[in-house]
This record gives sequence, structure tokens and C-alpha cells, in this order.
Amino acid sequence: MSEPRVLIVDDEPDMVENCARILRRAGHRCLTATDPHRALSLLESERPDLLLTDLKMPEVDGLALLRRAKELDPALPVVMITAFATIETAVAAIKEGAFDYLPKSFTVDQLTVVVERALRQRRLAVENRHLREQLQTTLGLENVIGRSPAMAQVFELVKKAARSEANILVLGESGTGKELIARAVHANSPRAAQAFVPVDCASLPENLLESELFGHEKGAFTGAVKTKPGLMEVASGGTLFLDEIGELPVGLQVKLLRALQERQVRRVGGTSLIDVDVRVVSATNRDLRDSVARGQFREELYYRVNVIEIRLPPLRERLEDVPLLVEHFIGLYNERMLRPRPIAGIEDEALAAMRNYSWKGNVRELANAVESAFTFGRKRRSAGWPCSRPPTCASCSIVTTATSRRPPRPPASIARPSTGW
Ligand SMILES: Nc1ncnc2c1ncn2[C@@H]1O[C@H](COP(=O)(O)OP(=O)(O)OP(=O)(O)O)[C@@H](O)[C@H]1O
Ligand SMILES: [Mg+2]
Repeated sequence: MSEPRVLIVDDEPDMVENCARILRRAGHRCLTATDPHRALSLLESERPDLLLTDLKMPEVDGLALLRRAKELDPALPVVMITAFATIETAVAAIKEGAFDYLPKSFTVDQLTVVVERALRQRRLAVENRHLREQLQTTLGLENVIGRSPAMAQVFELVKKAARSEANILVLGESGTGKELIARAVHANSPRAAQAFVPVDCASLPENLLESELFGHEKGAFTGAVKTKPGLMEVASGGTLFLDEIGELPVGLQVKLLRALQERQVRRVGGTSLIDVDVRVVSATNRDLRDSVARGQFREELYYRVNVIEIRLPPLRERLEDVPLLVEHFIGLYNERMLRPRPIAGIEDEALAAMRNYSWKGNVRELANAVESAFTFGRKRRSAGWPCSRPPTCASCSIVTTATSRRPPRPPASIARPSTGW
């Protein structure tokens, strides 16, 4: 928020000027109005960051102005100035959403302090809104690329499933985007403002994973120098993402099942039970049903985590998404790698090869192919086309533009889906 602006409204010109002088001296930019109609039009046209208004004015009073201001911008802090600073008027103003009120006999300090506080709150609200928007764009569905019918079905399911409280199991081969989908579920769920906590069930030995999940008390084992809450506690109110759930050791499966059933955890070495409220999204590239049949995965846990199942198709079954994905990753790496010349696109021949390739590593392999093209580009062209390693071959043919500007998106010189991809 650059240079916040305060709109000061009072039917007494002296009062307006007095406030403006004090606030300008304190470094604030001020807009002023003695006519409430003028104030309304300034509210609409100038979008100030704080409204400081007299409560009692002829025609449009401070409360009416407050209501209109809140309609225009619900996060706008409003400070009321009142000659009759009774509890009643103050309560009425606060009930209507005013940030605070000041008696007309305010001191310079009182005015500057309340304005600083209100502007700080405004700044935080704006920052939070930006963060939320950023979160939505980085983690929401709009970053999951795909227009194939198979992916359209996935998107539909994600939107519906996210709104429910049901536990979700995301299935798919390695690199199909399971984690991306888990994050999109969270971002589209009513829990989006709370934590998304990933736990990699494959990366730790059983005892460490147990204390990671459930926490531990100080002295519970050698090295437990202080009490640590578990990730289930950290995720309370939000989403717990159990990645590679198929790798969870059997002993922990039992403990996890109990915690999910009881909605309570007991830290390692602890005696009391702690309430947790988590929504579980799990992912695996294993056939969990098969693990159940082999006795490697507890059936009750399987049903508890798999209330809704989202299956991600392997890339080879939706090759029509390849051009879109290539465009997406070219855009992404152009932004990340500050090259003097951005990559403009990919030659038709290379794209055709990519559309015919089996992509055993799925989207991750494709992303890597595009990334390596940023390093090698055309230099490898001399190796001849086509060569024996299709993804690398494809990357041989990614071309650079002559322009030295960095376009926000790949320029029109590469064909887009709407123009025949
Ligand atoms: N549909 C997609 N659109 C854009 N990027 C994607 C898509 N699917 C996957 N990716 C990207 O591919 C990479 C691999 O995705 P992710 O980590 O979600 O896969 P995964 O299924 O969890 O794989 P693994 O089983 O190996 O953990 C990530 O960089 C991710 O951002
Ligand atoms: Mg993963």
C-alpha cells in the first residue's frame, strides 16, 4: 500500500483543516470534504485508505456515510468524530463497523495514534488479501494444466470433493500431479485459510515418523530435548496431506487409524489426549487395494482415508494435453530463469515427437525435458533429428526468439491450442 490516503469529512471547515494539518504533519496524504455528497463521490472515485468523519452532519450523517463506505470497500477502516461522545453513539458506530471513535475535543496524539492504528489494520487486511490471492493462484486449480476429457473429469471431482469434509485418496503414477491436486483440494476447501501440512510417509523410519505425526513430550526418547507438537496437531483446522501413504508402516497404520477415529492424538511419551480436527488427503502410486489383499495395508484405514477417490490419468492417456503443458512450462521457466532472450516456443517437429512419446515419468518428465531445453536449446541440434531419446530430442528443437524483451507469456509465434494445437 503506497502512501495511504485519509478522507476527512466534517461540515465545519475549521475542523477539517485542523485534522488535515495534524495528519499531514504526521506524514499522511489527506483528502477533505465539508459536504457529505462530495465525500460520497470522493469515496467512489478516490478509494481512500481511511475515512475520518464527523458523526452529526446535516443531510447525510456519519453513519450513512459509514454504511456507504463499507458497501464500497468492506475493509475500509472508519473513525468517527463526535461532539457527543456518549457510550450510545460510540456503540452504534462500532456496531455499524466503525474502527474507533474520537471525541471532538481530541488531542493531537489521540488523533495520530488512532489514525496510525487504523492504517496498520488496513495494511494488514490488504496484505492478507494479496497473500490469499497469491495462494489461490499458486495452489488453486488454475495451475493444474489439462483440457483433455480425463482432466476435465478430475477438475469436476476436485471441486465437488473439496467442498465436502470427506477424506480423499489421490491415485496415480509418479509425476501425474498428485501433490498438485492435493493442494488444489485444500485451496478450494472451506479449510483454505488454515494450514496444509504435507507428511512424506516414505521418507522416515517408523519411530521418527511416529513422533513427526503425533509429536513427543520432552524426554520421551534420547534426543527429545523439548516437547514438540506433531504434524496432526499442526494441521488441526486444516488439511493433513499423507503423501505415499502406501509406505506407512503397519504399526503406524493402527495408530493413525485410531487417531482419525477418535479425533485425538497422544504425543509420544505423553499421557493426555489432544483434540485434532484434520481433513486427510492422501496420495499413493501403489495399488492400495492390492496392498490390503496382501495384508500390507489395514483395510479399516483404507476405507477411512478413501472416502472419495481421485484417479489421475497417466500423461500417455491424455497426450492431447502435451502442447498446453509445454507452453505452460516454457512460460514458467522463462519467468524463473532470467535469460536475456526468452524461449519463444517449440518447433512443430519437436512437438509432434512429444505428442507421440510415452512419458513414463508423466508430467514431471515433461517438465524436466522443457527445463533441459532451456540449458541446451538448439546446441544439440547437430546430434540430428530424431535421436534416440525423445524427450531430449524434443528439447533440442526448442528455439529462442530474437527479441530481448521478456514477454509475460510465450509470444504468438508458437501455435496455441485455439489455433490448431
Ligand atoms: N497437470 C499439471 N499441470 C501443471 N503441472 C503439473 C501437472 N501435473 C504435474 N505437474 C508438475 O509436475 C511435477 C510433478 O507433480 P507432483 O509432484 O504433483 O506429482 P506426484 O504425482 O505427486 O508424483 P510422485 O508420485 O512422484 O510424488 C510438479 O512439478 C508439478 O507441479
Ligand atoms: Mg508426490
